[in-house]
Amino acid sequence: MITSNAIRLAVAADAAAIALMSRHLIEHGLPWGWDGQRVAQAILAPHINVAVTGPRGAPVGFGIMAYHDDDAHLVLFAVQPARQRQGLGKALLDWLEAAARVAGAERIRVEARRENLAARIFYNELGYHERMISKAMYNGQVDGVRLEKWLRVHDVSASGAAS
Ligand SMILES: CC(C)(COP(=O)(O)OP(=O)(O)OC[C@H]1O[C@@H](n2cnc3c(N)ncnc32)[C@H](O)[C@@H]1OP(=O)(O)O)[C@@H](O)C(=O)NCCC(=O)NCCS
Repeated sequence: MITSNAIRLAVAADAAAIALMSRHLIEHGLPWGWDGQRVAQAILAPHINVAVTGPRGAPVGFGIMAYHDDDAHLVLFAVQPARQRQGLGKALLDWLEAAARVAGAERIRVEARRENLAARIFYNELGYHERMISKAMYNGQVDGVRLEKWLRVHDVSASGAAS
């Protein structure tokens, strides 16, 4: 059983393994943007949470979420293939969403490759809806889909809409 205790904030020793997961599970066929150094910087950044599950130095799943003024952005997210479909992704995302709520985020944004049906179904199942398809979103090569999940009711009157 996955408990919230199974999720923890990443430490520097996790950076290399997270970067390799990104390389193989997310950035395959594209330039390697999230190398170990960039992940290590994210771990230290005050406006970013890097959540992991698994042993120190050898995480089996991770999520990187950045917090902005009113919303949060799920930047990278993956679970190792041998550990997929065991609820780890949901546990990680629940943890990151709880942190986003505490931080005051109204919504969470995330992107996935258009052809990545597993990720699209995963996010759909967890309440994310698809806003648009973006052609050549990744490195001018690969189409993407943009998704979002509202965490609380959006107050349209506050944004100047006529009543
Ligand atoms: C997308 C991903 C993170 C899901 O992680 P996971 O740990 O397997 O997800 P969970 O076990 O928590 O799945 C929760 C639900 O999502 C849906 N789901 C997850 N993977 C699915 C798949 N391959 N096909 C269909 N539905 C899927 C199911 O409804 C699942 O519930 P169920 O297993 O009870 O049917 C994982 O497949 C992954 O790491 N993929 C490669 C990297 C990636 O695509 N990252 C996201 C885009 S950056």
